[in-house]
Amino acid sequence: MPGNGLGRREALGAAGMAACGLALAGCGTGDAKAQPNLKGKVIARTADVPVGGGKVIEDLSIVVAQPAQGVYKAYTSACTHKGCAVSAPKDNVIRCACHGSEFAADSGKATKGPATAPLASFQVKVEGDGIVIA
Ligand code: FES
Repeated sequence: MPGNGLGRREALGAAGMAACGLALAGCGTGDAKAQPNLKGKVIARTADVPVGGGKVIEDLSIVVAQPAQGVYKAYTSACTHKGCAVSAPKDNVIRCACHGSEFAADSGKATKGPATAPLASFQVKVEGDGIVIA
């Protein structure tokens, strides 16, 4: 962006921070960039994440889901409305108790407001019986 003193990257970063309110990389795009210290980290055991359900890993602020047999998804557990921690998925719905927002466990997409932005996602893979940040 010539003339405003900000490079394109800085301008986008500033806009993203303002829109998200939280310092989550990639929050505005729905893709969480795995923090370097999380890459390769086992965040849950497959046995603890039932089909249609899931688990919140509170110390990592991550919610893990298995929306279909053998398909695992992970998202930041911070609701995109005002940042409350969402609950573990039930029937493939991730709910936020603060104001009632709901998110699809298979995509992180907001399906019921007030939240409109999707939960930021992490790329995960299964290694043995572990669900690992890719
Ligand atoms: S913080 Fe989740 S619905 Fe408001």
